[in-house]
Amino acid sequence: MNQNHHQGHLDASDDIVINSTQQPAFIERVNNNRRSFLKGGIGATLFGMLNTSVVLGCSSSKQQGGLLGFASVPVQISPNFDTVLVAEGYKAQPFLSWGDALFADAPQWVGDGSEDWKAQLLQAGDNHDGMHFFPFPDQPNERGLLVINHEYVNNTLHGEQSTDGFLLVENQRLKKQVLKEQAAHGVTVIEIAKTESGDWVPNKLSKFNRRISALTEMAITGPLKGMDAMKTEADPRGEKVTGTLNNCSMGVTPWGTYLICEENWHKYFANRDEADYQQRASHHRYGVTHKNEKTNYGWETIDPRFNATQQPDKPFGGHVNEPHRFGWVVEFDPFNPNAIPKKRTALGRLCRECATVSLGEDGSMAVYSGDDTRGEYIYKFVPSGRFKKNDLQHNANLLDEGQLYVAKFNDNGTGQWLALRFGESGLTNENGFEDQASVLLNARGAADQLGATPMDRPEWVAVHPDNREVYVTLTNNVHRGTKHALNAANPRENNVHGHIIKINEHKSNPAAESFRWDMFLLAGEEASSNVPASRKSTINGDIFSSPDGLCFDEAGRLWIQTDYDDRVQQNKSMGCNQLLCADPTSREVRRFLVGPRGCEITGITFTPDHTAMWINVQHPKLSYPASDGISLPRSTTVLVTKDDGGVIGS
Ligand code: FEO
Ligand code: CA
Ligand code: CA
Ligand code: CA
Repeated sequence: MNQNHHQGHLDASDDIVINSTQQPAFIERVNNNRRSFLKGGIGATLFGMLNTSVVLGCSSSKQQGGLLGFASVPVQISPNFDTVLVAEGYKAQPFLSWGDALFADAPQWVGDGSEDWKAQLLQAGDNHDGMHFFPFPDQPNERGLLVINHEYVNNTLHGEQSTDGFLLVENQRLKKQVLKEQAAHGVTVIEIAKTESGDWVPNKLSKFNRRISALTEMAITGPLKGMDAMKTEADPRGEKVTGTLNNCSMGVTPWGTYLICEENWHKYFANRDEADYQQRASHHRYGVTHKNEKTNYGWETIDPRFNATQQPDKPFGGHVNEPHRFGWVVEFDPFNPNAIPKKRTALGRLCRECATVSLGEDGSMAVYSGDDTRGEYIYKFVPSGRFKKNDLQHNANLLDEGQLYVAKFNDNGTGQWLALRFGESGLTNENGFEDQASVLLNARGAADQLGATPMDRPEWVAVHPDNREVYVTLTNNVHRGTKHALNAANPRENNVHGHIIKINEHKSNPAAESFRWDMFLLAGEEASSNVPASRKSTINGDIFSSPDGLCFDEAGRLWIQTDYDDRVQQNKSMGCNQLLCADPTSREVRRFLVGPRGCEITGITFTPDHTAMWINVQHPKLSYPASDGISLPRSTTVLVTKDDGGVIGS
């Protein structure tokens, strides 16, 4: 989530410090199976292909020669810049925007936000974020499913651009608006294909097209399934949940499923009973709304399950446990439009940015996640089982059993993965942990107990396709040096520009319990500029602030996406948000693309042959993609191609 919403309606949830291990307790606002369905035909083909060559990162093709084959794009500092500028020799075109019809019977986007929630469920959601292209095996570079997260909603959703938020009418939100907001969250699955003329087009007739939203039924699996902590008035068995929220970045498994991540879910719920709140670590350690704070959208005023205030007269206290049912990795198979998404509780409950999979040669795995809040941690989950090619049944529930770890960075360049294992290292009854399920439910509290290293807002994780080096974006943290102590892995006070670190697992083993790390770069302003040293970059090349999206292509190019407030003084010299590309060996960084004013650049994926790339322009401020100065701005997936049909970035 962007630090300051340009449409002015939300406080940034991930700007709140909740980790009380670094400071006296406070919450401070700053700036305020596969494939049961795959029967015969295409299904049988997919079955074979997806179990032998599924791509974990952005891509799957190899590129020889120099890594950065394009000339860098200049910064765009005009307050009126309202388009996408890409490197010379490339074309960038709007591909799928909020409100675009996804089905044959879906209404076309009207343009004024007047569609109702049922229409919204047939159209692309809002605030496009993490994304992945799943190729069809018989035409991998010409046909695929594009899966796109929709993180949250802008107030343009209702056709308004007021600056005072999602309005209460007589202390309640309008139900029809709340339903539309819930419908605009989640995920879009859309089949897309390359025509003979070389254009990519969505196929609205595809049986694979799907919208997952905050209204979609999901299953709870893993250690928390059926536990008392998951039971609510609406779900007395603790086995199913309505919806997913704040779906930021994502992951992809070797067996071809998509991992939705739930990031800033905590500000959708309110617990107004302060005594109950304070004794409930699963609420206060995650910053669930309390006292007189406002939730993001006021849904609790009309939809009871977002009221997490204990109601002793109701079964299971009403919905006091509902916030326990968010913060998970949600796995689903895009090629099975009827599959119920599964919340995989073994991976722990975080405000989770991403779930990036690293696969070892022996089938062992790590799933890396950043918990994007100031002073929170980097985690990895190591499944107990190993991935087996062509064994769908074996792979189907690998994410239900395994060990969660949290990272400790030592100043000497070494580090440890500390196991969140009940009964060890203080994860005991005396410290409020009853069993492994309670450790996973309050993973943050468990990580505190273990002495994990508080980081400068960990966002995306990317794994090098050849050597499994792990790169992590630490987007920024203005409290570093004050509320969070300086350390070598978070070395700058008032870290407004962020940095990227690199982790080398012991023997390149995803399941290793120790690692070495070093600083890949410190983002910031020109080293020659007249600004405080803590704002100067160490970048070898084009400057940027607040790295967020991060992805390797299989040639080993590191693609870096930014999410900074382009209005504030320290970011003026960088202009609008950007997509850059780095050579991990030379550490040279070049700016490849610049987005319209007010947007964040996020989400990145490629066709296997790398001739098409999609990125997301999230929450543009002006009128993109119409760029006419009049139309409502719309979050938009952008298609990037090379004029000569070649490999992107080459
Ligand atoms: Fe939704 Fe941390 O970005
Ligand atoms: Ca965002
Ligand atoms: Ca961000
Ligand atoms: Ca992000």
